[in-house]
Amino acid sequence: MRDVAVIGVGMTKFGELWRSPLRDLFAEAAADCLTDAGIERSQVQSAYMGCMTSGLFNGQEHLAAILTDYAGLSPISATRVESACASGGVAFRSAWLEVASGASDFVLAGGVEKMNDGADATYCLSTAADQEYEVYHGVTFPGLYAMIARAHMHKYGTTREQLAHVAVKSHRNGAQNARAQFPTEINLDTVLNAVMVASPLGLFDCSPVSDGAAAVLLAPAEVARDLGKPVVKILGCGHATDAIALHDRQDLASIPAVKAAGDQAYAMAGVKPQDIDLCEVHDCFTIAELVCLEELGFFPRGEAAAATVDGATGLEGTIPVNTSGGLKSKGHPVGATGIAQIVELVEQLTGRSAKRQVKNPRLAMAQNMGGSGGSSTVHILEVSS
Ligand code: COA
Repeated sequence: MRDVAVIGVGMTKFGELWRSPLRDLFAEAAADCLTDAGIERSQVQSAYMGCMTSGLFNGQEHLAAILTDYAGLSPISATRVESACASGGVAFRSAWLEVASGASDFVLAGGVEKMNDGADATYCLSTAADQEYEVYHGVTFPGLYAMIARAHMHKYGTTREQLAHVAVKSHRNGAQNARAQFPTEINLDTVLNAVMVASPLGLFDCSPVSDGAAAVLLAPAEVARDLGKPVVKILGCGHATDAIALHDRQDLASIPAVKAAGDQAYAMAGVKPQDIDLCEVHDCFTIAELVCLEELGFFPRGEAAAATVDGATGLEGTIPVNTSGGLKSKGHPVGATGIAQIVELVEQLTGRSAKRQVKNPRLAMAQNMGGSGGSSTVHILEVSS
């Protein structure tokens, strides 16, 4: 296996992008990424695109071909990757494997979702839950994460106020991110007094319904070194699956696929949680950020909430989390999210994050998750000059 680096990144603004069709979103992100990398379209050999359900959201399948063609990349090999909200993370892993194996040198990993095209987003998203045992009985994703939150509250004493601190922190970071869907600071009262979506989760505990795309370009690390820029190497990669339905899990207050993927990535990278300088985790709901941080070993079980209130996950904290604003403030076009996390980390590692820049980071982690945790990826990136 060869060492692999990320040599270019690009993404659109996230939000309700009524004027931009699905294919335009992807083409914009891909073009920005190639410009950033300084690589010609003709040099790209292969592409993987994460997308959860363009068929339901936009009535468009055969996605890899249409996106590749519109982005001016045909006739390269192109593969659409689906793993619900972890589609981007799995696309990134697929691209990494292709470069690491020596099969190709320049591989694009992208992600796109256009959720505001008129389809019922709650229904479309629910297809990533267990139809027979969950969805037919009326459960939605806010409902599933509300159950996880209730279990966490019951087991560890986590409170609504502590959950609200997660949202306040994410919006503080997102307010410094021009590409965020909701780049506005909020306070605890806003979160606690917002309309209830699925108790105990209110409007500001939820990621929004978003449109957007992101793309990154991978190449052998030795090629990256020749470009004369800092080299962002993929040091660790983990990917795990689990039962989709919550009732099939031993403990509702945990998400085992995240721990399994994290353990793989730590082992491959040869590093521990305390070595990581910043982390983008899959905060589709405030409770998800807390559970994922515990599964990844940043805090003992039941202690991520208090640590968040103490500021440990803020920009100046011991482990800055979701410096981009996270899914909560930046937005969550589901198929694009896993790639957008990598974009944020690469920009942070190369000192390009302006007001939300973490001081001199060397190691960064991205954790992307499908559904209520039926799948998860974890990637660890390292920068060297
Ligand atoms: N956070 C903050 N503000 C939000 C928001 C969010 N998540 N979602 C919507 N808003 C704002 C809108 O901008 C709008 O503000 P305005 O009136 O000032 O324009 C207002 O709230 C109402 O927006 P609307 O689009 O009508 O909200 P909605 O009730 O249709 O949807 C949710 C709100 C929370 C139900 C929806 O965002 C949702 O389903 N989120 C979860 C998505 C999800 O499950 N993703 C997959 C995770 S696994």
